[in-house]
Amino acid sequence: MTTAVTPQAQHNLMAKIYAFVNQKGGVGKTTSVINIGAYLAEAGMKVLIVDMDSQANATSSLGFDKHTIGDSCYEILLGEPNVAEAIIRNAEAKIDLLPSKPALAGAEAELVNQVAREYRLKKALEKIEKQYDYVLMDCPPSLGLLTVNALTAARDGVIIPVQTEYLALEGLTQLLNTIDLVKQHLNTRLKVRGLILTMYDGRTNLSRQVVSEVREHFPGKVFRAIVPRNIRLAEAPSYGQPISLYAPDSAGAFGYKVLAAELLQTDNKRKER
Ligand SMILES: Nc1ncnc2c1ncn2[C@@H]1O[C@H](COP(=O)(O)OP(=O)(O)OP(=O)(O)O)[C@@H](O)[C@H]1O
Ligand SMILES: [Mg+2]
Repeated sequence: MTTAVTPQAQHNLMAKIYAFVNQKGGVGKTTSVINIGAYLAEAGMKVLIVDMDSQANATSSLGFDKHTIGDSCYEILLGEPNVAEAIIRNAEAKIDLLPSKPALAGAEAELVNQVAREYRLKKALEKIEKQYDYVLMDCPPSLGLLTVNALTAARDGVIIPVQTEYLALEGLTQLLNTIDLVKQHLNTRLKVRGLILTMYDGRTNLSRQVVSEVREHFPGKVFRAIVPRNIRLAEAPSYGQPISLYAPDSAGAFGYKVLAAELLQTDNKRKER
């Protein structure tokens, strides 16, 4: 197995745009967005992370204070700010961020009466996506209008982190139904790009059982790389760093490095077809 993420020259092509979605809370959406983003950036990709969760965990994981953010996804969804000016950068991690702030919690209610409310994020990303190879959207643990905006903008599909624990598959039917609805009405090319198995504990039979169960249910759709449960992954956000900077030799770092390499490699294969 190769683990190196090799630089690819794909700058003038359209960005790959993925939404990380699971309405179940705490399954590893934000951790996956940040750390896959970091390894894609390390491989020379230009990466934009879009924080669509009012908890603003992706924003704080990259070292920003959610209470002092200027323009954010909130203003972008509800007004007409200059999107490029809302972008902030973690230079060390080489990641650009469209941040979130607590006010985003009110956006769903405020959007209800707006025209083309499901297309707001897509329209905003169209203005800037040419500057990026990857746009990774972190979604809240719900299937409301914020997640629907991300699904509508997700040109290259949905990535579903799944925690390898009891009832891992619970809720996925509802998620797949939502994806189908968005595909019918808002984004005809929407598909599931892949499921990520997270927080794997190799010492337990349960973790191993869940892995086979998810692979059986979604043949060919589950990324081969599995992310282990690793305390370093939980510590890194409080230092405002991805795992690639905080603990590059940890098991968690290795998991995400291999996963990012797999995403990059399978994306490039798709393009050759
Ligand atoms: N592989 C892992 N090993 C250990 N801890 C992890 C791992 N992945 C995530 N965590 C921790 O588990 C918690 C939940 O992860 P994360 O915030 O990424 O989930 P989420 O799906 O984004 O949650 P939410 O639905 O609330 O947005 C966090 O405290 C995170 O640091
Ligand atoms: Mg999250």
